[in-house]
Amino acid sequence: MNQSKLAIKKWRNVNSIGTLVKFEDVVIVIATKCIDNNHYINYSKLKRPNFYKLNLHDFMMKLIVLNQKGGVGKSTIAVNLADGLADAGKKTLIIDLDPQAHSSVIYSPELPKQETVSELFREKHFDITRLIRPATVALDIKGQEEFRNIPNLYIIPSNIHLATTSEIALSRMHREKILHNYLRQIEHDFDYLLVDCPPTLGVLSVNAIYTADLILIPTNYSKYSLDGIADLFNSIKDVKETDNYRYRILRNLKDLRNKRTNEVIEQQLDQFGVNLLKTVIRKSEAINQAQMSNLPIYLYDPKSPCVEDFKLLTKEILNYDQKETID
Ligand SMILES: Nc1ncnc2c1ncn2[C@@H]1O[C@H](COP(=O)(O)OP(=O)(O)O)[C@@H](O)[C@H]1O
Ligand SMILES: [Mg+2]
Repeated sequence: MNQSKLAIKKWRNVNSIGTLVKFEDVVIVIATKCIDNNHYINYSKLKRPNFYKLNLHDFMMKLIVLNQKGGVGKSTIAVNLADGLADAGKKTLIIDLDPQAHSSVIYSPELPKQETVSELFREKHFDITRLIRPATVALDIKGQEEFRNIPNLYIIPSNIHLATTSEIALSRMHREKILHNYLRQIEHDFDYLLVDCPPTLGVLSVNAIYTADLILIPTNYSKYSLDGIADLFNSIKDVKETDNYRYRILRNLKDLRNKRTNEVIEQQLDQFGVNLLKTVIRKSEAINQAQMSNLPIYLYDPKSPCVEDFKLLTKEILNYDQKETID
């Protein structure tokens, strides 16, 4: 019997679906019923095809940028962290899950009318790879618009129609798993996924939460920065059906001049302990300008001090021990 048949047989004997079991330094995949459901792991796409000793790095790490508040920097962080990861050589996919399409405007400048992320919520069976396009930015070179691809970076864009499409999804069974189930088709195709969530805790954010390996929660330095965070944690707990989910708070918009305010906010945030990322993104006019020019900060002004903040953030995420995500 060759190895693949042996592997499949063993899978069929185990009664769990798509469960990962940590065993010393390796991860064992138990995927019995997936075979019947056509969700079996596609061996040919594995970077290191070994059925029993799959390394966690064979799986895309799914990060979502979540906060039901608008204006805390979700899109800014999704756009610039994705750029940082891609620049570090990691094949990265950004999914824009916000009908306002702020990250799509940057990485898919000719906003598509069709074939957006909406398809996933409208269609029951869809080839998700049809929606993935290389991330492109529009540069202004001496008054001429020039499109340039960002190596290693891909996007599934959204547009305003996502708002109505997501309402259709509300009537579907297992509506919280729609995105998760589609992502299985591509879980070996990318190193990182970044989801830019909308400023609500509706069905779109619930889909993002369900599939997330790590939830990044940006907060700012205002008096009300932690208002609503209890609701946010309750929603995550409801969707994940456990208290044991992985999240990190990410401080954004720190104005270095406001020493006293910063002190008070930092004290409030101490309660999050290891769940507080070390990186702080300072408030910077360059970030605003970059957004107005529809560019990631590194392309807009590589010398801006805040580029360093995003480099540190990228490093911190790259060093995050993904093994931690499996207990
Ligand atoms: N660190 C920062 N410094 C300066 N402006 C920022 C920073 N982070 C975000 N912004 C600006 O704040 C506004 C809201 O940010 P955005 O990323 O769109 O938030 P969200 O996606 O949470 O609604 C944008 O105009 C953006 O350029
Ligand atoms: Mg946004």
